[in-house]
Formats: sequence, C-alpha cells, structure tokens
Amino acid sequence: TTKIAILISGRGSNMATIIEAQRAGKIPGEIVLVLSNKDGAGGLALAKQAGIPTAVVASKGKSRAEFEKGVQTALEEAGADFVCLAGFMRVLSEDFVVRWNGRMLNIHPSLLPLFRGLHVHEQAIEAKVAVSGCTVHYVTPELDGGPIVGQAVVPVKAEDTPDTLAARVQKAEHLLYPAALAKCLGGEPEWDVQPGILLSLR
Ligand code: GAR
Repeated sequence: TTKIAILISGRGSNMATIIEAQRAGKIPGEIVLVLSNKDGAGGLALAKQAGIPTAVVASKGKSRAEFEKGVQTALEEAGADFVCLAGFMRVLSEDFVVRWNGRMLNIHPSLLPLFRGLHVHEQAIEAKVAVSGCTVHYVTPELDGGPIVGQAVVPVKAEDTPDTLAARVQKAEHLLYPAALAKCLGGEPEWDVQPGILLSLR
C-alpha cells in the first residue's frame, strides 16, 4: 500500500480532507507523515489530533539545499513513497522534484495554465474571468507546469474580492484533491456532486 506524506505550510484544510477521505476508505494508501516547513502551521495540530506522525523541517534561515536534505531525510524515515503538496509554500529544486517524479502532486488555486505563482485570486479578478477554480497536477521542475490530473471550476462573481473567491475555490479544492489522489494511486475516484462546482479528472 502506498505510503503518503503530506507537506504543508499553513492551515492544512486540504490535508484535513485528504486525511478524512483516507479514513473513509476512499484513498488506496496510508498517510505516514505530515511535514511542515513552519513551526506554527495550524495543520500540524489537526494532524496530531488525527493521530498522524508530524515533523517540522524549518525552512527559515537555511539554504535550500540544507532544507531539502532535511525534508528528504524525514520522508525516507517515514517510508513515504508518494508526496502531496497541500498549501506548501516553498519552491522545490529541480533535483528534489526529479527525485519524486511521478510521485508528487500539488494543488494550485487556479485553472492552470492560467495564473501561476502567487496572488492567484487577485490575478483572476484583475483578468475579469467568469470562472476560476483549482488544479491538481504532478510536480515537475516547471513551476505550476506539470501534467494535470484534475480540475474543478467555480464561478467568479462581479462583487468577488480575493477572499470571497478564495473561499469558493477552497470548497472545490476539498472535493478535488482526494478524488485526484485516489485516481493517481489506482483507486476509484469519488466525490460529492455539489451545485456550482464542476469537477473533472483526466
Ligand atoms: C490552498 O488554497 C492551495 O491551493 C494554495 O494554498 C492554500 C492552502 O490552504 N496553494 C498554493 O497557493 C500553492 N502555490 P490549506 O493550508 O488550507 O490547504
């Protein structure tokens, strides 16, 4: 069975939905580690509550090579063979990404290839698009550029602020990530059909 590690930097709401889906038998794998690059990440407490081993590898004050060595060691010690980036806000080096090629997913809060990088919801509002959403993709050295596993689409409203749009996109993320992960691990992807969210897996 696949041993999954989830990498976070913050709240961990996507991490929590993956844990929940795994508990419900919807993910063919086990979660062996939640790792944060930030000591105070809210997701760490949620993971601990769920009884999942956690680790902190601080990125602050370290070179990228030193940081990534720490992450790689923690992943190996946990026996992880698949990695989910879930609100993990550090860019990983080409060496690290290549080592996990085909075994590392990321979720990004836009319909890639539109709006890569940061301040995604500002970008979407600025562009006056009528829909936005989220993308789960394999991680490759090209930032936010790897093969797409699935996307979920939500409306963008004229009165949206970055915060209101972010909240709508996050609901879609919570449907998409567990379904996309299940598919990548060879399972039967399942998700609730919800009004205003169109989800599609490739
Ligand atoms: C999510 O919206 C995710 O798409 C985004 O960070 C948020 C994390 O929320 N990721 C990125 O912007 C990656 N560049 P969470 O900690 O509650 O899952």
